[in-house]
Amino acid sequence: MSGAPGRFIAFEGGEGAGKSTQAGLLAEALRASGLTVVTTREPGGTPGAEAIRALLLDPPGAGWPPQAEALLFAAARADHLAHLIRPALARGEWVVCDRFVDSSRAYQGGAGGLGDDAIRALHAFGSDGQRPDMVILLEADEAALAARLASRGEAADAIESRPASYHRAVAEAFGAIAADDPAGIVRINATGSPADVHARILAALGPLLGGAGA
Ligand code: TYD
Repeated sequence: MSGAPGRFIAFEGGEGAGKSTQAGLLAEALRASGLTVVTTREPGGTPGAEAIRALLLDPPGAGWPPQAEALLFAAARADHLAHLIRPALARGEWVVCDRFVDSSRAYQGGAGGLGDDAIRALHAFGSDGQRPDMVILLEADEAALAARLASRGEAADAIESRPASYHRAVAEAFGAIAADDPAGIVRINATGSPADVHARILAALGPLLGGAGA
């Protein structure tokens, strides 16, 4: 460990955008440059947050009212941050996370109708408003995402199985969130091969990677 501070990078985007593939490729590239990298995901990443994940993606009973859903995501995030992300950053490690608070802003705040202020207030309370050092938003048109999801062939969870109009609203909300914070969120065209998308991400991360590793 070099004594340099760790960095926190989050991947965001709709279903089928390739976030986990790209998070894995980025983590490998960072490790190859000599960094210690923790990969994790939301909801989840710690035993407590993984337990909440199961409640969210396969809800018991009638399903969560929107406010309860947002609270559960915020609770999972508070645990994840306290028990995994912050300790890793304090050790000088890099954290690459598949989804973070901007997912709550886009899904629960935007598509779910709770509004951005409510989600930000929950995040301020649960996680001191912690932002990643950089957010990578993977974007592709609806047809490309649908094709990728179909080829995955996994059963859709309670959120993924919401109507196309919900997912359209998620994509629009992500676009608005990114437009509001061009310094903190890079928008990446997620169409093309994983290698092409990875190259775009490395190019966009250049300034952040400048002081990293070797
Ligand atoms: P996951 O299987 O991780 O989806 P994906 O592979 O598409 O990333 O399931 C996470 C689901 O939870 C996904 O539908 C997005 C949703 N989600 C929210 O609605 N709000 C949030 O804050 C987070 C982190 C995820």
